[in-house]
Amino acid sequence: MTKLRVGIIGVGRMAEICHLPILAKLPQIELAAFCDTSPENLAARGNEYAVQNLYSNHHDLFENEKLDAVCIFIPPFAHTDAEIIAAQKGIHVFVEKPPALSMDKAHEINAVIQKAGVINAVGFNRRYARTSEEARLRLAGKTLVQALIHRLHGSKAAAYWWMLEELSGGAFVENTIHAVDLLRYLGGEYTSVSARGMDRRDKTEDLDIPLTLCVTYTLAGGGVANITTSTALDGGGHSEFLVVAGGSLYDLGDSTLTIDGEKIAEDEPDRADYKGEFSTFFDAIIEDDPERVRSPYRDGIRSLAAALAAVESAKNGGVEIDLTSPPYAVEEA
Ligand SMILES: NC(=O)c1ccc[n+]([C@@H]2O[C@H](COP(=O)([O-])OP(=O)(O)OC[C@H]3O[C@@H](n4cnc5c(N)ncnc54)[C@H](O)[C@@H]3O)[C@@H](O)[C@H]2O)c1
Repeated sequence: MTKLRVGIIGVGRMAEICHLPILAKLPQIELAAFCDTSPENLAARGNEYAVQNLYSNHHDLFENEKLDAVCIFIPPFAHTDAEIIAAQKGIHVFVEKPPALSMDKAHEINAVIQKAGVINAVGFNRRYARTSEEARLRLAGKTLVQALIHRLHGSKAAAYWWMLEELSGGAFVENTIHAVDLLRYLGGEYTSVSARGMDRRDKTEDLDIPLTLCVTYTLAGGGVANITTSTALDGGGHSEFLVVAGGSLYDLGDSTLTIDGEKIAEDEPDRADYKGEFSTFFDAIIEDDPERVRSPYRDGIRSLAAALAAVESAKNGGVEIDLTSPPYAVEEA
């Protein structure tokens, strides 16, 4: 089997600790080239994976390399035209969440990807976890009545950009978007959102993200979901993901699914959900079968829309925002 030639844009922390160790072992691909604006990260990952084609910007990467696919692991603020150039060259595109920080940019990229017809995916890895698969199967056909989800964080992060709303979107957009997306996968589309939040008092030039965000979504099936996040803890973190449907309580917490207190499924070890999302993306390319991808770009930006609209609502006194109208609506295929 000829291996797919894959370029990686952004070889920072997530690439180092999670994605590259997985990608390097996949039989379908060869790591053909790396691109990063940080010379240190570029050199370190190049050495580690014996990749010699190293680029400090993606224009040079696309100019010089013949790639089948590109994986884009750059921070939220940095999405400019890498996805666009790739798609226009017929290169298949995998992009980490959140795929952009504005709906204008997300719609622009989406239009080019759809026109080019390349295989595409957004890194919502939880869709590939065994507990998510099992919950989705068991929730099929049931109306999701209520969801109670929270992700509570501290305010310090490894990356400087995470702590600045302008660069990361804040914790809700950067991180809680995983829960926003998973609930859509399990319970259907959101139709509207309103949110309240509290700004932080300990703002500095290095720390400027909202302290809390409490978000209420209305679902197309009539149910209501509360998803909250905060960056107020001095240490540690806590999360919970509870769904009420069909008279039962589904609890997707800490790698385990319980229904009404009974353990139903456990996630596989060794980051199997990440391996699943990458393998599925590359198999979809090899088989020319885009339907395999559980989070294509068009779908991924619906989760982005839901997260960005929540932030907008909170900034405007909790006003209800219609997610079925522009700029948040995303056209069907
Ligand atoms: N799916 C998950 O579970 C998960 C977990 C953590 C992070 N992420 C996402 O992965 C992405 C990267 O996060 P990270 O923690 O690795 O961040 P990071 O800051 O550690 O790494 C990002 C890398 O991208 C490089 N970079 C920035 N702009 C660039 C550009 N224009 N061209 C090329 N390289 C550029 C940086 O120099 C850095 O090396 C983010 O979108 C983040 O939200 C996903």
